[in-house]
Amino acid sequence: MRASGRAMGVEYAIREIVAPADELERQGKRIIRMNIGDPNKWDFETPEYFKAALREAVDKVDNGYGDSQGSLELRQAIVDREREKHGVKITAEKVFVTSGVSEAANILMGTFLEPGDEMLVPGPGYPSYTQYIRYFEGVPVPYRQMEEEDWQPDIDMIRKRITKRTKGIIVINPNNPTGAVYPERSIREIGNIAAEYGIPLISDEVYDKITFDTNYFSASRLPSDVSRIILNGFSKVNLMPGWRVGYGYYMDESGMLDEIFDGMMRQLRMRICSNVPCQWAAKASLQGPQDYIVEMNRKLKERASFTYDRLNEIPGISVERAKGSMFMFPKVELTGWDNDKDFVLDLLKTEGVLFVNGSGFCSEFGQSHFRTITLPPLPVLEEAYGKLETFMKKRRSE
Ligand SMILES: Cc1ncc(COP(=O)(O)O)c(C=O)c1O
Repeated sequence: MRASGRAMGVEYAIREIVAPADELERQGKRIIRMNIGDPNKWDFETPEYFKAALREAVDKVDNGYGDSQGSLELRQAIVDREREKHGVKITAEKVFVTSGVSEAANILMGTFLEPGDEMLVPGPGYPSYTQYIRYFEGVPVPYRQMEEEDWQPDIDMIRKRITKRTKGIIVINPNNPTGAVYPERSIREIGNIAAEYGIPLISDEVYDKITFDTNYFSASRLPSDVSRIILNGFSKVNLMPGWRVGYGYYMDESGMLDEIFDGMMRQLRMRICSNVPCQWAAKASLQGPQDYIVEMNRKLKERASFTYDRLNEIPGISVERAKGSMFMFPKVELTGWDNDKDFVLDLLKTEGVLFVNGSGFCSEFGQSHFRTITLPPLPVLEEAYGKLETFMKKRRSE
C-alpha cells in the first residue's frame, strides 16, 4: 500500500543520518555520534530533585487524563518563571503545554497554514519547522543567517521575502544549528517588521538560559504592538528531553491571534493532553534551585570554545564562535565531494564520526556546512575532531 505523499515527503536530517551509522555499528565499527542535541546522552544529568518529583507524581496524581491546555499548576509556574527570567507579564490562560516544542510546532503550523501559505524560517534553522510547514502543504521561505556577521539574521531579506501569503516569521534564538544569540537590535527590527506587516512572530526560545557571556533578549520583551507566540520547553535547559514537555504562550493585544488560539486549542483537545506526571515534574523543575544551569553553561562554554579553536586548526574547515545553545555550524571546503551529505557520509564510513549535513538545515543557506554538538566532554571532542583532521588531510592530499 502506498503511504501518503505528505508522509513520504518528511525528511528530518538529524535522525535520518542515523540509519547508515547503525548499519556500520552492526558491522562492528565504533561510531562517535555527534548528531543529536541530547544533553542526557553525555555528562549532563537530570537533577535529582526533578527525578524525585516524577516518582512522587505517580503516587500523588490520579494517573488519569489531564487538562488539554496543560495543568493549571504548571502553567502558573511557567508564568512565574517567565516573569523572573524575562520580566514578562502573562497569565496562565495564555499558556499552553505540549509534548515538547515539537508538538507545539506541529500544532501551530497546522493552525496557521492553508496550502500555499508561506512561513519565514531562519536558514539554516532547526528542520522541524520546515518539515511541518511542508507537511501542511505550506511553503517554508528561508531568510539568511549571515555567517560573516556572527550568524545574525538578514533583516533586509526578511522584509524582501514577505508576500501576501506570509503567515508568520519564525525566529530561533539562541539558534540551532549556528549557536548564534541575536542582539536586542535584531529582535527589535524583526518585531518592527512583524508589526508593520501585521503578521505574528513565533519565537523558539528553548535555549534561552544557555548563553555564554552575552545578554539575552527574549521576544517576549518586545512592545505590545508585536503579536507573538513564544515557544519553550524542558528538553534542554531542564535536562528532561525524554519526558516530552514543552510550552508556548501568546502575547497579542490586537486580537489577531484569537482565532489561531481557538484553532490550536481544538487540536490540543483532539490529542487529549500532554503527559500528566511529567508535567508535575516539569513544574517542580521550575520552582526548585536553578544553580545546576551555571555548571551546565560552564561546561558548554568550555566545549564550544574548544570546538572553535580545534576546528579552525583543521585545513578546509572554519567555524564561527557560538554564543549559546549546544551547536556549531562549521563550513567545509568541498574538495572531492559532490555536496555536504557526501562529505558527512564519507567521514562516517572512513572515521566513524557522525555529524549532520548542513543542507539538512536549509537547502538554500545550509550547503557546504555540517552541524556539530558541543555536548561531549573534551576527550570525546578531541577524538572526534582529531579523526576529522586526519580525514581532511588525507582527502586533500589525494
Ligand atoms: C530550536 C529547537 N526547537 C525545538 C526542539 C525540540 O524540542 P522538544 O524536545 O521540546 O520537542 C529542538 C531540539 O533540538 C530545537 O533545537
